[in-house]
Amino acid sequence: MNMDPGNPNWEFLAMIRDYQNTLEFRPLTGSEAVEDHQITVCVRKRPLNKKELAKKEVDVISVPTRDQMIVHEPKNKVDLTKYLENQKFRFDYAFDDTCTNEVVYKYTAKPLVQTIFDGGMATCFAYGQTGSGKTHTMGGDFQGKSQDCKKGIYAMAARDVFAYLRSPRYKPLNLIVSASFFEIYSGKVFDLLADKAKLRVLEDGKQQVQIVGLTEKVVENVDEVLKLIQHGNSARTSGQTSANSNSSRSHAVFQIVVRSPGMHRVHGKFSLIDLAGNERGADTSSANRQTRMESAEINKSLLALKECIRALGMKGQNHLPFRVSKLTQVLRDSFIGDKSRTCMIAMISPAMSSCEHSLNTLRYADRVKELGADGPRRPESPMPDVEMEPAQLDLAHLRSLNEGDMSAEMFNFHEAIDELQKSEDKVLDAHKAIADYLVLAHQRCVQLLTMTRDVDYDQDAYATQWEELLNEQLAVLAQRSISLAASSHRITTSRSHRPTIGASGWY
Ligand SMILES: Nc1ncnc2c1ncn2[C@@H]1O[C@H](COP(=O)(O)OP(=O)(O)O)[C@@H](O)[C@H]1O
Ligand SMILES: [Mg+2]
Repeated sequence: MNMDPGNPNWEFLAMIRDYQNTLEFRPLTGSEAVEDHQITVCVRKRPLNKKELAKKEVDVISVPTRDQMIVHEPKNKVDLTKYLENQKFRFDYAFDDTCTNEVVYKYTAKPLVQTIFDGGMATCFAYGQTGSGKTHTMGGDFQGKSQDCKKGIYAMAARDVFAYLRSPRYKPLNLIVSASFFEIYSGKVFDLLADKAKLRVLEDGKQQVQIVGLTEKVVENVDEVLKLIQHGNSARTSGQTSANSNSSRSHAVFQIVVRSPGMHRVHGKFSLIDLAGNERGADTSSANRQTRMESAEINKSLLALKECIRALGMKGQNHLPFRVSKLTQVLRDSFIGDKSRTCMIAMISPAMSSCEHSLNTLRYADRVKELGADGPRRPESPMPDVEMEPAQLDLAHLRSLNEGDMSAEMFNFHEAIDELQKSEDKVLDAHKAIADYLVLAHQRCVQLLTMTRDVDYDQDAYATQWEELLNEQLAVLAQRSISLAASSHRITTSRSHRPTIGASGWY
């Protein structure tokens, strides 16, 4: 009998209620002990929002215990009879829709504050589809358009960092705290504390990765950190409409660094990451080349992230495919060493219309967790034994670890994008060099002209210098135009690449 008139999915709703009646609900209350893991993987279900309630969306997620989540997937038989496929997942913690950010923080990022004071690297990732609650969890609750960043994990972590810093145990170390905030968009790094200046990532011979010129502000207290977060958040969302939000297509990385005084050596670093929406990874059918490239980049970075976290769990026996994406490259330090710890919070939208995305999210999180439990289920693939550039080698390795998930076409597409990005960097470097050169040339040009105002100026010297200057400019510009032609040729040829993906999706 239809107990809920007006709800087109009332039959599924009734089936879910029946199923739930067979469960004994003992969810996390917040008073349970916090477990100690090097890698923690949790899931969080947000409540149905007003819009979804108004549409009579059915909630298809149950969180019966502190570590279980069940997806009630609606299905139709061939004769159109409706049934549910109830899929169970287990993680370190499962947070239901009544859990607050404080409780989520207690079991996820809070234990990692100790890590950075012990001299380690800590990372906390928010993963999930757009609208599932990543920014709410990391950055804080939204009241209309403004965000109360005091209630986000970024701020709670900062508060605890200062509490540790002032504790009798760590006070004598006189550690200095600073913070950075940047965004990775389409494989490029933008400084959220410096007007979104585009920054370069360099790797030295010792595989040390550096973001050149990244703003790192020394902070003395929580209020100063809150100001930085607010500043970064507003830079992140400026010029966006909610329908076409950039933030769903970029990874935001907030870092708290503690350094020893004097030498400025990094003592520990806490990276908190609001990842790009994972649904973007599947968005490759778009006609727009830029969108396809962005999607491929997000997909690749999330695959690489999963492998880098797995490698951390395998105690460094494994090659880290960190060069495959900017995200894993800039976080390289966090995936190595016994002292590194990481936590992933996978966010779920509860609505029936998000069911498929939620299942993808849970499957991804489950793969990350495998290693947290009893090591990998899949045999290790050897590194490909061929001459390749490091980045190419990492891509090949990533593909071999995800056999079947990355088609040959997709692999080629990623290679083509890498090429494209390299040539884009070259073109822009050349452009900047010309801009700098032209400023100097212009100064010299004006100086020469000024010289001719003198009644008895040296005409020979003038003629020689003017000619030299003109010839030099012609030579510089001709040289640049040749290399530009070569690069733009590459940009046009790579346009023909268009990947397809299998029904299994990406993960
Ligand atoms: N746990 C929660 N409780 C209440 N509202 C939430 C929760 N998680 C998310 N929301 C709301 O849902 C919407 C989408 O969340 P948001 O954090 O922006 O998603 P994402 O960053 O994953 O795209 C926002 O309006 C947010 O306030
Ligand atoms: Mg967001």
